[in-house]
Amino acid sequence: MYGVCAGFMATMAAEHGEPYSSFPLHMMQYGAGGVGGWGSLCGALNGGAAVIGLFEQDKQRRENLIAQLFSWYETTVLPSYRPTKDSEPIPKSAAGSVLCHASVGKWCKLSGNEIGSQEMKDRCHRLTADVAAKTAELLNANLREPCKFAGLSAESKSCLSCHSDELHDTIGKMQCSSCHQQLSKEHPAVPDGLLKPSKAPRKSAP
Ligand code: HEC
Ligand code: HEC
Repeated sequence: MYGVCAGFMATMAAEHGEPYSSFPLHMMQYGAGGVGGWGSLCGALNGGAAVIGLFEQDKQRRENLIAQLFSWYETTVLPSYRPTKDSEPIPKSAAGSVLCHASVGKWCKLSGNEIGSQEMKDRCHRLTADVAAKTAELLNANLREPCKFAGLSAESKSCLSCHSDELHDTIGKMQCSSCHQQLSKEHPAVPDGLLKPSKAPRKSAP
């Protein structure tokens, strides 16, 4: 969170001076590790959304920008940023979730590194650069034409068509299957292929 916000503030301060040059940036350090190490919202996304909030005050456009940024993060194989031309590429993964807990956990499992390792930190630093660049790209495009959200994944759209629009028992737009991998036997049928099969072997029906 600090990394993304510091990148924007430094760039804006160099061009425009105040108020960017005296912004109390240290406040953004709370976002590290998914907010104070709680593994909730990825700090890079928290920073991107904060910067979006600074520059876009219209609610609908702001939410569209955040939705574009967050769904890109859930589905894109990252990190792609390389600090220098000669930097070694590192393993990449699609987070499937906006949560630090799942995003970092998945990458560590895939790359064989431990949580807290230098490799993990390098991955999060590069990811931070990717998120800052994406946020700038979206904000610049939004200046030319108001941001429209490309739309939720087919899965979330289908789940929310009942749970949000009809049942009003669910809030949020996160990828449902990142947590709900199996539904009860009583659950109404959902289109095939929407929920990824659970990695754990299913208990065979009695
Ligand atoms: C056709 C409408 C409909 C769709 C589509 C739908 N649900 Fe449901 N869902 C229900 C109803 C009705 C219940 C039972 C009442 C309740 O708990 O609100 C339910 C219950 C649930 C429950 C409670 C536990 C369980 O398994 O029954 C979860 C979790 C859930 N749905 C998640 C999802 C997810 C994730 C999706 C998308 C893959 C989804 N639902 C799609 C209608 C739907
Ligand atoms: C980060 C994990 C996570 C994500 C992502 C998530 N859920 Fe949940 N969901 C939960 C948890 C935890 C509960 C509470 C479960 C409980 O009460 O046992 C819950 C509860 C629910 C319930 C009520 C279940 C009940 O027993 O009444 C529904 C319906 C539901 N979620 C639907 C969805 C839908 C639809 C999506 C996607 C838009 C979604 N969830 C995304 C974790 C998640």
